[in-house]
Amino acid sequence: MTKLRAAITGIHGYAPPYVLSNKEIEKLVDTSDEWIMTRTGIRERRIQKGEGLATSDMAVEAVNSLLQKTGTRPEEIELVICATVTPDMVYPATANIVSDKCGMTNAFSFDLNAACSGFIYALTTGSKYIESGSYKKVVVIGADKMSSIVDYTDRQTCVIFGDGCGAVMLEPTTDDFGIMDSIMRTDGSGRIHLHQKAGGSLRPASHETIERKEHFVYQEGQAVFKFAVTRMADVSAEIMERNKLTADDISWLVPHQANLRIIDATGKRMGIPPEKVMINIDKYGNTTNGTIPLCLWEWEKQLKKGDNIIVAAFGGGFTWGSIWIKWAYDS
Ligand code: ACO
Repeated sequence: MTKLRAAITGIHGYAPPYVLSNKEIEKLVDTSDEWIMTRTGIRERRIQKGEGLATSDMAVEAVNSLLQKTGTRPEEIELVICATVTPDMVYPATANIVSDKCGMTNAFSFDLNAACSGFIYALTTGSKYIESGSYKKVVVIGADKMSSIVDYTDRQTCVIFGDGCGAVMLEPTTDDFGIMDSIMRTDGSGRIHLHQKAGGSLRPASHETIERKEHFVYQEGQAVFKFAVTRMADVSAEIMERNKLTADDISWLVPHQANLRIIDATGKRMGIPPEKVMINIDKYGNTTNGTIPLCLWEWEKQLKKGDNIIVAAFGGGFTWGSIWIKWAYDS
């Protein structure tokens, strides 16, 4: 029997218009453009400003454009998965809200939380629904309003994160294109180094949790950095080895944009030259679930049918993984 694969047949991104530059951050905390550029590679990030706007509103921008450019009616969508750590509300799922706002009334939908690896977990999950033959049109979203959980008096984290999102369409193909292989990993013991302390069932919101600033991102930067460098590079090398891919076979590496030094280390470990590595961390910072679809969207015009793409991510949890995609269309 011919194998069904899930192919990405369209992509669109959205970053809010407000630019928060390093110069502006210098006025908020004791830092400098030079420190941020040298230690992270970030020059500026986008922030979603405006009363009543949430993660779903960015996702709606991306999904509406995706539906338009792929010529898809919203009612045709059968499944929507939204990877996010900043849902509009604890429940219902942001995916449900996006489905409602975009008119995807026939879709079943859910959120997926794997911190910065969420988008690749969601892409893998969505691809399984296609490969099984259950669904023919799946939308996978990676979206985060990180500014809603960042403490702008904490210089260790506020320089890193930004807001943004992207969405892809997955459809079945019997050709040898699409999501070819994936490796996903989790190590829950890493939760001590990167988490949000309060707001869950362990520490529900209270005056105390607010006073102690426990609703913000907590990150032990150095510890996370060490794990991120080795895990992201190792899993990317592993997916290449098990599929007998050499660096020459790879057209693009799409790494999660957490820190330019982690991106460089991953590229070096895989033997991929810098010109084949998608990097836009300088413009957007770390948008958590938004980084990978924002990269693919920005590079879409350069992608050619048959390009071998390795996508890799690392995030809180700890979670990490890698996907081999054979790009399915010429833009
Ligand atoms: N400006 C100036 N100085 C600073 C700043 C700042 N913004 N932030 C920290 N420093 C200082 C520290 O206080 C420290 O000073 P000290 O030596 O006097 O104590 C010094 O700079 C070095 O601090 P480090 O934390 O060691 O800096 P490092 O080089 O590790 O960079 C960073 C910090 C950027 C956070 C880095 O560790 C990193 O990128 N970590 C990994 C992030 C990541 O991959 N996260 C996973 C995904 S995110 C998610 O899943 C939600």
